[in-house]
Amino acid sequence: MCCVLKAGRLLDAETTHNCLHLPARRILRNCTKMLFWPFSKMGLSGCMFSGISLFFFMHFAVTSGFLVEEKALVLMTNYPLIDGHNDVALQLRILHDNRLSKIDLHNISKVATDINRLRAGHVGGQMYAAYVICTAQEKDAVRLTLEQIDVIHRMCSEYPEFELVTTSHALRSSKKIACLISVEGGHSIDSSLAALRMFYRLGVRSMALTHTCNTPWAESSSEIYTFYPRDNNSLTHFGKAVVKEMNRLGMMIDMSHSSWDTARAVLQTSQAPVIFSHSSAFTVCNHRRNVPDDLLQALKENKGLIMVNLYSGFVACGAKGNISIAADHFDHIKNVIGAESIGIGGDYDGAAEFPEGLEDVSKYPALIQELLHRNWSEAELAGVLRLNFLRVFEQVEKVRDELKGTLPVELS
Ligand SMILES: *[C@@H]1O[C@H](CO)[C@@H](O)[C@H](O)[C@H]1NC(C)=O
Ligand SMILES: *[C@@H]1O[C@H](CO)[C@@H](O)[C@H](O)[C@H]1NC(C)=O
Ligand SMILES: *[C@@H]1O[C@H](CO)[C@@H](O)[C@H](O)[C@H]1NC(C)=O
Ligand SMILES: *[C@@H]1O[C@H](CO)[C@@H](O)[C@H](O)[C@H]1NC(C)=O
Ligand SMILES: [Zn+2]
Repeated sequence: MCCVLKAGRLLDAETTHNCLHLPARRILRNCTKMLFWPFSKMGLSGCMFSGISLFFFMHFAVTSGFLVEEKALVLMTNYPLIDGHNDVALQLRILHDNRLSKIDLHNISKVATDINRLRAGHVGGQMYAAYVICTAQEKDAVRLTLEQIDVIHRMCSEYPEFELVTTSHALRSSKKIACLISVEGGHSIDSSLAALRMFYRLGVRSMALTHTCNTPWAESSSEIYTFYPRDNNSLTHFGKAVVKEMNRLGMMIDMSHSSWDTARAVLQTSQAPVIFSHSSAFTVCNHRRNVPDDLLQALKENKGLIMVNLYSGFVACGAKGNISIAADHFDHIKNVIGAESIGIGGDYDGAAEFPEGLEDVSKYPALIQELLHRNWSEAELAGVLRLNFLRVFEQVEKVRDELKGTLPVELS
């Protein structure tokens, strides 16, 4: 049944209320069909009736905010989200020992990410974390990381809905859910630049310098592990070599999870723009995983990107939170450094609790709707959804091309 016709005929509160709960796109599509249908079945009077109905619908839509819902979906169809951080690969290890044959990735229980929900969320690109726990540092971290890279490769090649990409061009032109691989934590390279280079060859295009532990060469924002206590040396000589080697390879440097001092040192060292793949605004929620305003300013000068984390702990500081508090982080960062420095790094399946209305990867459109309500322009949101990330990735590749004559660093 076409709701527009019902709304046009009845215009009672209950009917219009019910209409709001149908998917907006389907209503518009059905109603467009209905506009033509009367010519053959009902003649001119039917057509006029449809036209009058449409007028009432538009009036009701504009005044109710209904159009914003449709606008968000159209925007996300034209600019599918590229999200900076997702930990479903970790869940595949924890829940299924990486045995993909035992599950259907279209619909996985006990996780927040699967193909059905990625599609509903208009996700067109996802950076998947190859993460291994800090206690594996200097033990089997490299092998475990290889196994996580393997499961992402398998996931993204065994399902036709996915496509592994390793260049900005392939990411930009992908019509599928493009998969990017990121390594989450410098402990995964075991202080070996050769291991870093081989990860690049396996398709890894981003690495966070630390997870929740210090490495011998960089400092974490967390103190839950006691590895390598720092002595006023947040990014060592070797740490700077890692940054330079990542610039040379064309791998994005991710400062989420690193200490602010390490991040400041990276910003002074890197020739290419850097990212926070999943961090939010410290001014809105005072958590050390978030980014303070002075560091945001330095990030802007670097032309880098902060991809806002949606985890309740970083968004609402202890409370569960809702879409409104999540949107406050976007508003704040936009006020400080502009919308062109912002992306989204949901952190789904890497954290336990998410704000009401943002429970899994199907919910991104609700966030975009909220930002539209807050008068963010379509151009700003196209940037937040994907264009800002593509710009940074392209710039990282450009720096790599400029460094083509530079030899690999041999430091150990
Ligand atoms: C996913 O599977 C569960 C049962 O395992 C089912 O109840 C649910 O409807 C499915 N969801 C989708 C989107 O297919
Ligand atoms: C740490 O090093 C910086 C620069 O080398 C210096 O300015 C600062 O005083 C040092 N801080 C401590 C606590 O040693
Ligand atoms: C979101 O949470 C805040 C703080 O708890 C509250 O004031 C606000 O009304 C909530 N907004 C919505 C839309 O629920
Ligand atoms: C958005 O813009 C409209 C029209 O300019 C204005 O009335 C409204 O208050 C603005 N809303 C916000 C949240 O800024
Ligand atoms: Zn993380």
